[in-house]
Formats: sequence, C-alpha cells, structure tokens
Amino acid sequence: MSLKRKDLLGIKDLEVEEINLILSTAESFKEVGGREIKKVPTLRGRTVVNLFFEPSTRTRASFELAAKRLSADVINISAGSSSAVKGETLMDTAKNLEAMGADLIVVRHGSSGAPALLARALRCSVINAGDGAHEHPTQALLDLSTIQERKGRLAGLTVVIVGDVLHSRVARSNLWGLTKLGARVRLVGPPTMVPRDLGAFGAEVYTSLDEALDGADVVMTLRLQLERQGRAFFPTLREYGRLWGLTRERLQRAKPDVLVMHPGPVNRGVEIAPEVADGLSSVILAQVTNGLAVRMAVLYLLSGGKSE
Ligand code: CP
Repeated sequence: MSLKRKDLLGIKDLEVEEINLILSTAESFKEVGGREIKKVPTLRGRTVVNLFFEPSTRTRASFELAAKRLSADVINISAGSSSAVKGETLMDTAKNLEAMGADLIVVRHGSSGAPALLARALRCSVINAGDGAHEHPTQALLDLSTIQERKGRLAGLTVVIVGDVLHSRVARSNLWGLTKLGARVRLVGPPTMVPRDLGAFGAEVYTSLDEALDGADVVMTLRLQLERQGRAFFPTLREYGRLWGLTRERLQRAKPDVLVMHPGPVNRGVEIAPEVADGLSSVILAQVTNGLAVRMAVLYLLSGGKSE
C-alpha cells in the first residue's frame, strides 16, 4: 500500500487507512533506531529541505535525523538567517529551493495555511511541521504511535487534552486523529482557552480538570502558547498552574496505568508538575523517540515508498 497524496498538510483530511499506513510504516522504522548503524539507503539521491520560520528543537532535529537515517541529502534553513530577513517572500524562498532540486520541503510557519499555499504552487512534496494554531500533523502521528505502542490500541480509550486548546495546533491535529481512530477525547482548560464549538467535532468539553481526569487512559498536557496570545486569557501564571497544572494528586483520578504526554517544550511547574513530567506514567521522551520513526515513515511514503 502507498500514500496517494503529494503532501502532508494535516490530519483532518487524512483517511483512517492513510493514518494506519503511516503508523504501521513507522513501526517498521523503529527497528532502525536500535541498530548499530542507524541508516538505510531508502532515500539516497533525494533532497529534503527543512524550512523553519518559527523556533523548534524536536521537530526540526527529528526531521533532519529522519532524512539522514534514510540517506537523503538535507538542508536546514532558519528564517532568521535566510534571505527572508531581506524581504524575500515565503513563496519565492520555496520556489528557489525547489529550483535547486528539493524533493520534499518541511515547513513550519506562524501563519495557518502557509504549507497549503506552498503545496498548491510547488511540484515537490510539502510537509506541514506546524502552521499557526492550525495543525501539527507529525506531532499527532507520533502521539498516536506512542499511545498505540503502550496501550496496544486507540479505540475505546479516553484521552484528556488539558490546557491552551485555543492556540494549540497539537490539540487540533490530535483531536482529528484520535476521534478518527475511535478514541474518546475530553478537552479541558480555562473557558477562555477551550472553544466550546470543538464539541461539534466529537470532543467532550469539560470545565473541571478533576472531572475530566476521572477514569482517563491518557492525559495530554499542552504547552501554554504565550507567543500566540495577543491578550490576557488568565490572571497569572501562578493561578494557571494552580487551577490547570497536572499534579500528582490530580493524576490519581485517572486510571492507575494512565499515560502522561506533553508535546514539548515543557513549562515545568505551569502546565505540569516536574514530578509528573519525570514520573513513571510519563511517556514524554518516548514521544520524542517515536517522532523519529514517524517522520521517517512520512518522508518515505511521500517519496513513493510502499508498505506491506
Ligand atoms: N513539539 C514540538 O513541535 O516541539 P518543537 O517546537 O521543539 O519542534
């Protein structure tokens, strides 16, 4: 089976079969990370460009490493040190990179829809590495992969997504992915930061964190996206942490084998207590490890690769 699309722009427009194909392909790439020589020749001769207009540690490093493990040539461009600072448009930048022979462009941008704009104009594949508050598809795929790895399934699980849902592309991509694969999603956070209309897309919207945590299989804490908040959505960080931070005491309401997740970067002591982030239920670093295999799978499948 192969992925019959040129680009990966979001989870919302993926079929269930496509999500499962990416997850099963990622499963087969996990083994490469355990080898002494962590490299396969699959994308030899292909060129991957990472074009990042916003800061990143995990996504950028893991796309770079994923491409290198597949033996592709990789170029990394940060907007701050590119000709974007001299006024070159996003479209001109991308077309110039395509003119150099880029086969896949991985783009992170502060504006929702920027990757879709490039995908329509370019012949090469475009992968959305996070666009504004819209989508972060590979983050959701690595989250799905981690839950499936630890729980053996997604269908029927109760997943709580806590915090700044309003500004979170991670929350949106996960909402689409989790509901497509049969999980129940509970959204909870300050009323100013949890759009109630997301209930129309299959989520249950809660106003009490304690109630939302009752019987949860998975708790996904979200980073407080201060850089996207043009106004005050809560009184103080201390109050946010007191009301919405995930503490050990609060976590006791969830199932004993609950998984604690966070996309990173973590604001310790704000959205999650350090002892929970580092505790036995936490799979935060497993998410990062799985991100590598998921991004290898996405690069491979968009390059025409096939899976059994
Ligand atoms: N989760 C995530 O996107 O992290 P980075 O911003 O470090 O890439």
